[in-house]
Amino acid sequence: MATAPAKLILCGEHAVVYGRPAIALPLADIRATATVTLLPPGSGPLISAPDLGGQWRVAERPDEPLSGLVMAVIERFGLPADVEITIRSAIPIASGMGSGAAIATAIVRELLAHNGQTLPPAAISELVYESERGYHGTPSGIDNTVVAFEQPIWFQRRPSLPPLIEPLPIGAPLTLVVGDSGVRSPTRLPVGAVRERWQADPARYESLFDQVGALVEQARAALATGDAARLGPLLSANHELLREIGVSSPELDRLVAAAQAAGALGAKLAGAGWGGVMLALTTPEQAATVTDALRAAGAANALVTTIAATG
Ligand code: MEV
Repeated sequence: MATAPAKLILCGEHAVVYGRPAIALPLADIRATATVTLLPPGSGPLISAPDLGGQWRVAERPDEPLSGLVMAVIERFGLPADVEITIRSAIPIASGMGSGAAIATAIVRELLAHNGQTLPPAAISELVYESERGYHGTPSGIDNTVVAFEQPIWFQRRPSLPPLIEPLPIGAPLTLVVGDSGVRSPTRLPVGAVRERWQADPARYESLFDQVGALVEQARAALATGDAARLGPLLSANHELLREIGVSSPELDRLVAAAQAAGALGAKLAGAGWGGVMLALTTPEQAATVTDALRAAGAANALVTTIAATG
């Protein structure tokens, strides 16, 4: 069995599609898993995804992005094709937690491991990026990268070069409360809407993306020194910019406001928006109060997670 973690974008989502930096974190405790078993000769690959409500032969749904990924990996690495790939995932779909990237990463790892092979994270990330394009249209590549590298990363696209990917120093552990709005929103919808708005008014959106990029730079410095009191307001300011970009929702705004009122150091939506999750940065002592406040404000789920210091 192979696994891969969920992810959170700490700051910089959307602007990262347009070349600004962003910071992403893996959530080691929330994972997708894939298991491969051999089928009789001639069966061809079969994908079974009980949590996601489906089982299909890859040959019958060739346009499905996971089918494309499975075929590409089997052909490129000369792997056995008569296999059943069973996927299980604890990551809510369309919630901003990287469910698609984690499932795809677990599948690639397991198909290779079943044949005694491994690949470095960068190569797995590239394969998964291709399947993410099937779901999202114009992904930046940050989701597949943080999931495959499974460490906090600084990510920035560059013209005519591969993206800049740097492991991110974290000076002190971070306590995050993740609140789920309960609204499912596929990434490609807000990403597509932002593209249309950017095309209609590039100057306004470039300026908003610049402001996000400047916040992300400051967040990096605050993370390096473990200064949560400085990081919190930067995250809240990022939420305000995401509202202006047009990707928040009444539910997300309500959860962010509830976390702030309950004493969080900062809070923002996390991921593509319009639904999915928000995150709140808290002190360890405040985490339970903020969790209760999120539930009282209508969160479908709220959980506390800790990001370990590095080095
Ligand atoms: C999604 O996790 C993050 C977005 O910036 C889209 C992307 O980077 O591909 C909204």
